[in-house]
Amino acid sequence: MTMRRPIRFQLLPDLALALVAAAAPVSAAEIAPNAGKLANLVRQDCGSCHGLTLRGGLGKPLTSENLKIWNREQLVGIILDGVPGTPMPPWRALLSEGDAQWIADRLQQGNLP
Ligand code: HEC
Repeated sequence: MTMRRPIRFQLLPDLALALVAAAAPVSAAEIAPNAGKLANLVRQDCGSCHGLTLRGGLGKPLTSENLKIWNREQLVGIILDGVPGTPMPPWRALLSEGDAQWIADRLQQGNLP
């Protein structure tokens, strides 16, 4: 007959995870360093060309529908390096790679806060 693992050992990993999550509230902030600030930047700065509702203007719509053709890496590249030969400027001086990833994810998911 095989021995069953005592139930307390099966519960431990969950408990450990919960403790780590509780002890490190910073991790969410690291993923989205300045969510409010970035969302404002996207609406105002990006919106000045892409439309205040991001549905297009001088620049193309930044809707999740329109951005499906790009993968995350490509979008991050467009945001950081711009689109040469068009008015789309590079944002590398103002945005970190993490900022650009955050923006790319929100735009593609259509859930800019
Ligand atoms: C000075 C005007 C201007 C500003 C400001 C601007 N863009 Fe653009 N953007 C454009 C133009 C014009 C294009 C279209 C380039 C082309 O013809 O492919 C574009 C293209 C893009 C594309 C590719 C869209 C597609 O479907 O090919 C993305 C993504 C994008 N911009 C994101 C941003 C983000 C994010 C910001 C703010 C951080 C921003 N843009 C700010 C003018 C601007």
